[in-house]
Parts: sequence; structure tokens; C-alpha cells
Amino acid sequence: MNILAGRRINERGHLEIGGADATELAQTFGTPLYVFDEMQIRSMCRIYKKTIAEEYDGNGLVLYASKAFSCMAMYKIAAQEGIGVDVVSAGELYTAVQAGFPVERAYMHGNNKLEKELIFALESGIGNIVIDAYSEADKLNELCKERGMVQNVLIRINPGVEAHTHHAVQTATPDSKFGFATQDGSAAKIAKYVMAKENLRLKGFHCHIGSQIFEKSSFALAVDKCVDFMAQLQAETGFETAELNLGGGYGIWYTDEDAKVSVEGYAEYLKAIIAELKAKTAQYGLKRPKLLVEPGRSIVGEAGTTLYTVGAIKDIPGIKKYVAVDGGMFEAPRYALYGSKYTAILANRANDKNEEIVTIAGKCCESGDIVAANVPLPKVNTGDILAVLSTGAYHYSMASNYNRNFIPAAVLVKEGNARVIIKAQTFADLVRNDVIPEDLQ
Ligand code: LLP
Repeated sequence: MNILAGRRINERGHLEIGGADATELAQTFGTPLYVFDEMQIRSMCRIYKKTIAEEYDGNGLVLYASKAFSCMAMYKIAAQEGIGVDVVSAGELYTAVQAGFPVERAYMHGNNKLEKELIFALESGIGNIVIDAYSEADKLNELCKERGMVQNVLIRINPGVEAHTHHAVQTATPDSKFGFATQDGSAAKIAKYVMAKENLRLKGFHCHIGSQIFEKSSFALAVDKCVDFMAQLQAETGFETAELNLGGGYGIWYTDEDAKVSVEGYAEYLKAIIAELKAKTAQYGLKRPKLLVEPGRSIVGEAGTTLYTVGAIKDIPGIKKYVAVDGGMFEAPRYALYGSKYTAILANRANDKNEEIVTIAGKCCESGDIVAANVPLPKVNTGDILAVLSTGAYHYSMASNYNRNFIPAAVLVKEGNARVIIKAQTFADLVRNDVIPEDLQ
């Protein structure tokens, strides 16, 4: 058994995922195929939960940021692991409800939640809603009044911490569409506004500074700024923050340009947050709030691999070699959106030495449809099974039917046993919602 990029290679020289031979998975389920290693996902849930239990007396809750990968099986896993979830639309919440997720452990985010989403959240019995606008506070209060209920809420604040990550996934910069700035009094102002609402019970605050962040100091700085704000607000109004939600954002390995953090290594992020939170609340003499964290990418990202079958190969002498696969930006949109980098392995010849640098192209009718650029690989042949690593987060969840391609199936693998958790789309799915008006018949 060899190891390549942290992955196991079996005695046939094939990539293994969750104890299953990747080439057999490709054969059984077809490609493209999203493959998830169940134990990897569960281990990540467990390490976060354990760290809060050990380092913070269990006074907290891990919320899986389900935008990273949302499907019923994933909410089942989160439920079984005893963690909560964050949802950002009625659709994600509906999926959780359908999976029987205990939605009192769900938090709803969004900078522009629709009225129908708020109604659905209230009627589903959601635990918490994170308010991000005055109009939302007004609307939510009114909806709660009509229903004779009081809803627990947090307020999204912006501590103004600039994390070192792609600008599209930075969220706590001064010009962010999210949250209310702690620095200029905006956060305190909306906090007072929400406190005065009869049908809203303000529990605390939420911030999320960005995604794919490796520096623990960015998170510690966010804690500092949040606690400064909490202390100031308490001095001014007597309001005691019961819950502090620090969002997610811990970086994962995509290529060797990224740090490779072990499962246990992720505990360090929470330890850094907790140490700072303890120190800072002690400094102000504040009661320690319940701590919420919302990792998404780090729970599912490295647990996911996408398998493809290699099709056309085009060598433009002296310029570039394209290896086209049966997927593309419709199921792997991150290169097209963010220029994201990936590592790929030939799943059927995983021990072969890398010989060339290729560009993995998709099958969409668009030049920008690249799955990954400048990827070292052995000499690739048509028919090879190509595995792109670390595709568990923000791939399936951002997939589309561009060019009327099918969104692929996802399988969950544990001890060599693969089960379908999302069926591949079919032709029927593509035209399901199409209507030909009578006058076009
Ligand atoms: N909490 C909130 C409020 C968030 O907005 C996010 C991610 C998370 C938690 C989870 O962050 P994570 O642990 O997954 O980094 N589509 C982009 C990523 C967008 C992240 C949006 N918010 C990508 O593919 O890189």
C-alpha cells in the first residue's frame, strides 16, 4: 500500500477512497462521480466537537456550514454526530428538514432572506436566525408577532478583519455586504434596535471573516474585536452576550502550495479561538458566551474526490496540452470562478511517475471551462480514470446544468462500501420544469 498526496494506493496501483478502489467506483457508478469518504467527514465533525468539549467545557456547538455540500445524507451525518448546521436558504433548511435534522440546532444566515424563507424557517421551528438588516428585524418581528412566538436571533457583525484569502471569499472587509461594523457604532445601533423588538430575543452576535484561511491569528483577531464590542455594548446597555458565533473558514489542502493540516491539527484553530476568547472575556470580566463555529470546507472538502474519464487529448506543440474530461465547470466551477488550483491523480495508474504538465479541460462550449490548470500527471491516455482531489466543498453545491449537462451522482464510501447519496441527473430531469406554451405547440 503506497500513499500519494495523503491518499492510499492499493496493490493494483489504484487510488483508494474510503477503502474502495476508485476505478471500480467509476465503473460501477459511472463518471463524473463525486466520491465522499464518510469517516473523514465524521472525524472532522468529531475533532471539532471534542475540542469544544475539552477546551471550553462543552459550552458551545459546532455548526456544519452546509453550503459547502448540502444533501439529505449530509444532514443525517451531522445529526448523528450531534452537531448543528448553518443554512443560508429555505432550500438548505428544507433539505435538512426532509432528512429529519433537529432544526432547533440550525442557524439561518443570509444578507437578504426572503419573507417566504423567514416564514418557512419559523414554521419549521428553526433554532436561531442571524439578522443582517433592519428591514429583516422588522419583518421577522412582525411574522413572529402574527404567530404569537418569540424567536432567538443573533446579529451579524463585521469586526473589520482582513483575512489573507481570495477577495471573493473575504467577508469582513469594510465594504462587505455582510454584517454591521463594530468600529463605527453600526453594530451597537442595530443591537439596541433588535433588543427593543418584543418578539425577538437577542442571544448574541455572529461574524465570519472569510474562507480558506490558514492563519490562526486572523481568527484570534476576530475574537478580540468581537469581545471588545461585547464589552462596550454591555457597559452601555447591560446586555450580556449569551452566544458568540465566529463562523468558519479554516483552510484545506488543494495543492502543495497549501498547508496539509491533519484531522487533529484542525483542533488548533478552535484552541486558538478558545484561548483568545477566555483571555479576552477575563480581561473585561465578562461571562463567557456559548461558542459557535461554522466550519464547512474543512469538514467535507478533503473528504471529497471527483472521478472523471479522460476523453479527448489535444497537444498544442510548445504551448499547452489539454486533457479533456467528461465533467467541467458545470460540476467543478471553482477554477472558472476563482482560478482555484487542484491536484490530480490517475486513479488507474496511481503509482506512475508524473511526466507532463497538463490542463484539465471540461466538456462545456466555453474556453474558460477548465477544471484545473498546470497539473503534473503521468502520460495520460484516453480512457484513464482521473481523480481530482479535495473537491468535497463547493463543487456539488455550486454545480449547474450549464450546456444542459447532468449534475453527477455522489456516493458515500465507508470501509469499502459505496452507497449513492445523490443520484445522477437524467434527461428527464433536464426538461422536468420546461414548458412549451400552447401558442408554440
Ligand atoms: N459561515 C458563514 C456565514 C459563511 O458565509 C461561510 C462560507 C461559512 C460559515 C463556511 O466557511 P468555510 O468553513 O467553508 O470556509 N464558494 C467559495 C466559498 C464561499 C464561502 C462562503 N461562506 C469557494 O468555493 O471557495
